[in-house]
Amino acid sequence: MLSSDMTAAKATRSPRKKSRPAARRPAAPKPGPGVVPDGFYKAMVWNLRNGVVAITRDGRVAVMNDIAYRVLGMRSNPRDIGRPFMEVLKDVPDVSRIMAGSFELSHLPNRAELRLKKTGKVIGYTLSLVKDARGRSVGATLFFKDLTRVEQLEERERLRDRLAALGEMAAAIAHEVKNPLAGIEVMAGILKRQLTESPDAQSILADIIKEAKMANVIVQEVLAFVRPIRLQVEDIALADVIRDAMTMADSHASLKGEVEVKVDVPEALRPIQGDPHQLRQIFTNLLTNAFEAMGGIGLVEIAAVAVDGDEDAGPAEHVAGPTIQITVSDNGPGIPPEVMERIFSPFFTTKPQGSGLGLAIVRKIVDAHDGRIDVGERPGGGTVFRVTVPVRSPQQLFG
Ligand SMILES: Nc1ncnc2c1ncn2[C@@H]1O[C@H](COP(=O)(O)OP(=O)(O)O)[C@@H](O)[C@H]1O
Ligand SMILES: [Mg+2]
Repeated sequence: MLSSDMTAAKATRSPRKKSRPAARRPAAPKPGPGVVPDGFYKAMVWNLRNGVVAITRDGRVAVMNDIAYRVLGMRSNPRDIGRPFMEVLKDVPDVSRIMAGSFELSHLPNRAELRLKKTGKVIGYTLSLVKDARGRSVGATLFFKDLTRVEQLEERERLRDRLAALGEMAAAIAHEVKNPLAGIEVMAGILKRQLTESPDAQSILADIIKEAKMANVIVQEVLAFVRPIRLQVEDIALADVIRDAMTMADSHASLKGEVEVKVDVPEALRPIQGDPHQLRQIFTNLLTNAFEAMGGIGLVEIAAVAVDGDEDAGPAEHVAGPTIQITVSDNGPGIPPEVMERIFSPFFTTKPQGSGLGLAIVRKIVDAHDGRIDVGERPGGGTVFRVTVPVRSPQQLFG
């Protein structure tokens, strides 16, 4: 870090040393005759594919190229040159704060990152001082790049690595927590049977047992999420998987209330190759979410159809070949657009007691089956989840 800081500072200084310019124009050293055409440095800076903002010691904008304007979410304006940077950059206070500190900091940030509040973009930046021939700081330059896309791509990579490491740790912790939790539940149960004559103790112990059970569900979800999936693939009839999932989701009876569930899965549907336990988990989680969203009343419909790969030009097209599409729709409150983008992220939840792992697990299992999952608004209100899984062995279609 330190050494690259010094490299950056040296790089800014070195051309000046060679050319020994007039002391008054330190920012634009005169190139040796015939070597570098007039205006080259200026053009170079303005055409850099990174954002550049430079300020003078007295706090005025000296350079601000188009990329800088674009990344900072501002409209380009040549008249900004010479104006106080605090005014020009007033809409991006995160940036003006960095620039304001440039003359005070002993170590200037190099390859630091910042999320701009205004646009949500992530920039990677380096701050350097502009020094004159005598080594006095006469200005500062912020050099930055929009990392949003890079970040999105790399973040997935990094996240995978991080999750692998974190996953091991989380799995170990979850494993350790599982036993004491089970202990608490069992012991509370024993006490509850012994203290039959105290209604207060009965209700407290019932709460303890309930909370322990809930914590256990979260631990199980964390384990399911972090554990690498090893599919035990076999030919399975989707109808069976869905029936089992309904039984499992039903066991959260308090959630289900009066919600009606309609299933339209043709028994004659082609078998799919998959892991029955994992697939069951998908529908258990989707059903549980639907029940939780509806607060005890409404309708959930599960339908499955076989789709011929060639005929399908819809959003599921990248699952090649014949597929089975299963939709789980509810007429609950629906998912607001700003929430929709995040529902598959691990730990994202809108519920006070939620783990936020249900849909992350669903996605993980769907991915492991080379399938895909889409979510949308149900016409007439509510939510539709659509799971598309490939039918892998066409020779078994009618077998
Ligand atoms: N059928 C649904 N209707 C409305 N919102 C839903 C539905 N399914 C999921 N959600 C939203 O997605 C979020 C994430 O779901 P999930 O990953 O299962 O975590 P959790 O259920 O623990 O909150 C929920 O908190 C909820 O806001
Ligand atoms: Mg859930």
